[in-house]
Amino acid sequence: MSFLSCVVLALAVSVSSVAGFTAPDPTEFVVEVGQNGTLTFNPETIVAAVGDIVTYNFHPKNHSVTQSSFQDPCHPLAGGFFSGFVPTQDLTNASPTTFTITVNDTKPIWVYCGQTVGNHCQSGMVHAINAPTTGNTIDAFKNAAKTASTSTSPPDGLPVGGLRKTSVIVSVNDALAYTQNNLTSLVGEVIEFSFNPANHSVVQSSFADPCHPLAGGGFSSGFVPTAVSPSGATFQIVVNDTKPIWFYCAQTKKTHCQAGMVGSINAPTSGNTLDAFIAKAATASLSTIPPAAPIGGILTVNGTVIATTNSDVLNESNTQGSANSTISSVPPPGTSISPDVATMAGGYQPSSYGWANSISDNATSLLQLLLFVDNVLLEVLVNGHNNLTTGGWSNIYPESITDTIGSMTAQALVHRSTSTDCLSHYQKPIVGICNYNFAISNVDEFVDIALSLLLLEIGLLLDTIGTVVLSDPWLIGPLASTLGSKSRMAGMVNMMQDHIVAAAPREAMIPADLVYSYAMNNYVVGNSCPVDGTTGDLSGYTVIPPLTVTYASVTGTQRVTSVTLSFDAKITGTLFMAWLGPWGGLEYTPVVSSSAGQGTATVPTDLSGHVWGVLTSASGSSVSDLMKVAVAGPAMVWVTNP
Ligand SMILES: *[C@@H]1O[C@H](CO)[C@@H](O)[C@H](O)[C@H]1NC(C)=O
Ligand SMILES: *[C@@H]1O[C@H](CO)[C@@H](O)[C@H](O)[C@H]1NC(C)=O
Ligand SMILES: *[C@@H]1O[C@H](CO)[C@@H](O)[C@H](O)[C@H]1NC(C)=O
Ligand SMILES: *[C@@H]1O[C@H](CO)[C@@H](O)[C@H](O)[C@H]1NC(C)=O
Ligand SMILES: *[C@@H]1O[C@H](CO)[C@@H](O)[C@H](O)[C@H]1NC(C)=O
Ligand SMILES: *[C@@H]1O[C@H](CO)[C@@H](O)[C@H](O)[C@H]1NC(C)=O
Ligand SMILES: *[C@@H]1O[C@H](CO)[C@@H](O)[C@H](O)[C@H]1NC(C)=O
Ligand SMILES: *[C@@H]1O[C@H](CO)[C@@H](O)[C@H](O)[C@H]1NC(C)=O
Ligand SMILES: *[C@@H]1O[C@H](CO)[C@@H](O)[C@H](O)[C@H]1NC(C)=O
Ligand SMILES: *[C@@H]1O[C@H](CO)[C@@H](O)[C@H](O)[C@H]1NC(C)=O
Ligand SMILES: *[C@@H]1O[C@H](CO)[C@@H](O)[C@H](O)[C@H]1NC(C)=O
Repeated sequence: MSFLSCVVLALAVSVSSVAGFTAPDPTEFVVEVGQNGTLTFNPETIVAAVGDIVTYNFHPKNHSVTQSSFQDPCHPLAGGFFSGFVPTQDLTNASPTTFTITVNDTKPIWVYCGQTVGNHCQSGMVHAINAPTTGNTIDAFKNAAKTASTSTSPPDGLPVGGLRKTSVIVSVNDALAYTQNNLTSLVGEVIEFSFNPANHSVVQSSFADPCHPLAGGGFSSGFVPTAVSPSGATFQIVVNDTKPIWFYCAQTKKTHCQAGMVGSINAPTSGNTLDAFIAKAATASLSTIPPAAPIGGILTVNGTVIATTNSDVLNESNTQGSANSTISSVPPPGTSISPDVATMAGGYQPSSYGWANSISDNATSLLQLLLFVDNVLLEVLVNGHNNLTTGGWSNIYPESITDTIGSMTAQALVHRSTSTDCLSHYQKPIVGICNYNFAISNVDEFVDIALSLLLLEIGLLLDTIGTVVLSDPWLIGPLASTLGSKSRMAGMVNMMQDHIVAAAPREAMIPADLVYSYAMNNYVVGNSCPVDGTTGDLSGYTVIPPLTVTYASVTGTQRVTSVTLSFDAKITGTLFMAWLGPWGGLEYTPVVSSSAGQGTATVPTDLSGHVWGVLTSASGSSVSDLMKVAVAGPAMVWVTNP
C-alpha cells in the first residue's frame, strides 16, 4: 500500500512549537504475577509517569491484583482497582487473562494479592508503583503486610478500575478451533478474539440453535479474511452478565461450526454443557451469519477500528486499478476505498492515524461537519468528472486536466475517509448523505460550484486545525494532508476558470457555522439530511439566512470595487460587510441600505482573489467572534487577480 504524501504546511510547522504539543508515547509496563509458582510480583516496584499503562500477567495459582492504601495492606482501598481472581494452572505460559491499569498521577499506588488460601499478601506478595525511596517504602509496606489481618477483596468479586481481558486465538495452525473455547469469565471482562488465517468469524448463537445467529441481536465479527499470522485483526466483546454465551464460526467452506469450531463463555457444568453444544453443532444445518458486521463488539485491525468488514484494511490482495478510471457515483460515507480509487488518488489513507486515547467533542463535531461538506463536494466532483470524461463535456478540457480532476476527485474520497475512519475509530456517528440541489447546467457552473466548495472546505479545515490544535494534536497531520490536496485542486479549478492559478496563497479561514450556513443555504434540500444517533447530527451548528452578492464582472487587472447585496428584508439596523480574505485577513465596510433587504458595500482595496463576504450587525469582531455578529451569508466574491 502506498500512502498519500503528506503536505507540510507552514501552519503545521508553527503549531508544532506550541509547548506541550505532543505528549510522549506512554510506556507499557508488564508485571508477572506469581511467576514460576512464586508469591511475587515481578518487578516488585515500577516507576511510572502519568499516562503510562501497566499490564499484569497471571501465573498459577489463583491470584488477584488489588489496590490498597499504604496504611492498610491486604485490604481494598475504597474506589481502588481490582482485577478479580485469575485461577490458572499452566506453569509455562501466563493465563490468557490479563489486567491493565492506567497511571493517572504520580502518587504512590500500593497493590497486593488478595488470595487467602496461603495468605499471599501476608507472605509478601505486594507491589507498588512510584513508591517513595524513603519513609513509606516498598519494604515498609511489605513489613506492614506481614502482620496484617486476613486479606479481603471487593465483595462482588468483579474487576474494577482497569481492563480485565481474556485473549482467544481464532484458529491455531489452521485448526478449526478457538483456543480457549471453554471460558469462565467475570461480568465486565473483555474477550478479545485474535484472527489467524484464513477466513474465520465469531458469531453468537443460542444453545438451542448452533451455527445460526442469535435471534434479536447477539454479536458477530463478520468474516475476517487474513493472510498473515498474527494478522493484527481482533474482535472484542464485553461479558455483561453471568448467562452462558455460545459462539461459532460461520464459515461454510469446510463447515467450520459443524466441525466443532464453537465455544462458550460461562457454560453450565451439567445439562447444557459445552460438550452438549458441540454435539448439537455437529448435526446443525448449513451455517448462516447476520448480514451486517461487525455488530455487538469492536473489530480492530492493528489498532484501527473497522466500521464494516468489507473494508480494504482487511484485504491484503489488492491489485492496481487504472489511473484513468471513473467513479460512477459517490459511495456512502464509511465505504472502504476501492483499489481503483486508490490508484487514481495515488494511494490509500493510512491504516492508523496515531490515535490518541480519546477524541474531544470539538474535534468530533468538526469532523462530522467536514464529512458533511465532503459529501456535498464529492457529489459535485464525481458527477462533474463523469461529465468531463464520458458525458456532455468531454473534449472541453485537455485529457491531462480531466485526468487531474479525476485524480483529485479520488483524493477527495480518500480524504473523506479521514473523517469516517476517525469517527468510527471513536465510535461516533457518521454523517449521512442529504439531498442536494446544484444549479449546474454547463461546465462553467460546475467549475464555479466546485471552487466555492473547495474554498469552503479549505476555510473549514483551517478553522478545525485552529480549534483542535491543543486538544487533539494527532489530527493535525491528516487535516494538513487534506488541506494540501484541496488547495492544489482549488489552484487547478481556478485555472480552468481562466483565473491566474495561484500567484499567492489565498486560503481564507471561515468559522465552521458559516461553512454550514453556506452549504445549507446553497446546496442542500431543506430537511433532507438524516438526523439521528447513527447518521450524525449537525444541529449544534447555526444556519443564518442566505446573502446574495452581485457585482459587475471584471477582467485583466480590473477589480471589483463595490457589490450589491440582497438579503432577508427582516434584517434591519446598522449593517456591515465583513470580508474574510487570505492570510487570516478580516476587514469591515459599512452597508449603505437602499431599501428593505437591499444595500451596497464597497470592497476593501487591499483584497484580491476569492474572498468571503458576510453581512454583520457590528464591525470589529475577530474571526472567532464573527458568528456573534453575522446576520446573513457568507457569499463568495472574485475581487481581482492578485
Ligand atoms: C521465572 O523463571 C524465569 C526463567 O528462569 C526467570 O527469568 C524469571 O525471573 C523467574 N521469575 C521469578 C518471579 O522468579
Ligand atoms: C480463586 O480464589 C478465589 C478467592 O479465594 C475463590 O473465590 C475462587 O473460587 C478461586 N477459583 C478457583 C477456580 O479456585
Ligand atoms: C485512572 O482513571 C480511570 C478513570 O477515572 C480509573 O478507572 C482508573 O482506575 C484510574 N487508575 C488508577 C490506577 O487509579
Ligand atoms: C470469506 O468467507 C466468506 C464466506 O464464505 C466469503 O463470502 C468471502 O468472500 C471470503 N473472503 C475472502 C477474502 O476469501
Ligand atoms: C498488521 O500488522 C502486522 C505486523 O506489522 C502485519 O503483518 C499485518 O499484515 C497487518 N495486518 C493488516 C490486515 O494489515
Ligand atoms: C469446560 O470446563 C468445565 C469446567 O469449567 C469442564 O467441566 C468441562 O468438561 C469443559 N468442557 C470442555 C468441552 O472442555
Ligand atoms: C454487552 O452490552 C453491549 C452494549 O449493550 C453490547 O453491544 C454487547 O453485545 C453485549 N455483549 C454481549 C456478549 O452480549
Ligand atoms: C480484495 O481485493 C481484490 C482485488 O481488488 C478483490 O478481487 C477481492 O474481491 C477483494 N476481497 C474482498 C473480500 O473484498
Ligand atoms: C487509460 O490508461 C491506459 C494506460 O494506463 C490506456 O491504455 C488507456 O487508453 C486509457 N484510457 C482512456 C480512456 O484514456
Ligand atoms: C452531468 O452529470 C449529471 C449527473 O451525472 C447528469 O445528470 C447531466 O446530464 C450531465 N450533464 C452533462 C452536460 O453531461
Ligand atoms: C472547543 O472549541 C472552542 C472554540 O474554539 C474553544 O473555546 C473551547 O475551549 C474548545 N473546547 C475544548 C474542550 O477544547
